[in-house]
Amino acid sequence: QHILGVGVLGAALVAGSANAEVRDIRIGVDVPYEPMEYRTPDGELTGFDIDLGDAMCAEIGIQCEWVVQGWDGIIPGLQARKYDAIMSSMTINEQRREQVLFSDPYITPPSAWFAPADSEIGTPSEETLEGLTVGVQRGTLQDNYVTDLYGDVADVNRYATADDMVLDMDSGRLDAVFLDFPIGKSTLLDSDAGDYMLIGERITEPKEYFGEGFGIAFRQRDQELAEAFNAALATLQENGTYDEIHERYFGG
Ligand code: ARG
Repeated sequence: QHILGVGVLGAALVAGSANAEVRDIRIGVDVPYEPMEYRTPDGELTGFDIDLGDAMCAEIGIQCEWVVQGWDGIIPGLQARKYDAIMSSMTINEQRREQVLFSDPYITPPSAWFAPADSEIGTPSEETLEGLTVGVQRGTLQDNYVTDLYGDVADVNRYATADDMVLDMDSGRLDAVFLDFPIGKSTLLDSDAGDYMLIGERITEPKEYFGEGFGIAFRQRDQELAEAFNAALATLQENGTYDEIHERYFGG
């Protein structure tokens, strides 16, 4: 039990971090990124990150409000105090560690290539991608990886949102896309969008690109806030809540 239960004007005292006061916060998120963060048909935010973030806030004993923010400006928005945390499938890596403080990883999915079901690419490589047009979300690790490895041989189209990229693939303008695996599975393999397939292996290396899993990002000085979220995550992993939320979005 991490909470002393002494809520004062919406504030909670968190045990273990002496006199630390963790206040209600706002959390920045880029949508849609199904099944991690997206909207229900009536416009409500939902997804693995949203439910897990809400459960963590409840566990800490604070109110959290989600603020929708484009991926491009998501770290600047944190620094500018538009919100106090980012929970948006953000991969923990060294480059971002210079700008933000990360929580412990809360999920560690691979990345993967997806292509139309009749694609003849086979296994993505410099040879098989030569002259093709491939899509990534701008400013993601997938953008960095594809640009560095294949930017000289393929046309790399960079999209503001994962949705714009899927729309372009649906209309035949892209030969393949490179995405966090769960998003490709949900928006391409399991959806009524066109007919798509996974090509090649799921990719997790090199770590310098693929990092250490998704983390919640905070401003560097908000150590106590990060510790409160780490403690909440550990509790939710122990008491079954984490598994319940995982099951809700990823099945058994
Ligand atoms: N995991 C990737 C990264 O950290 C992409 C995350 C994009 N998230 C989003 N909600 N659009 O670079």
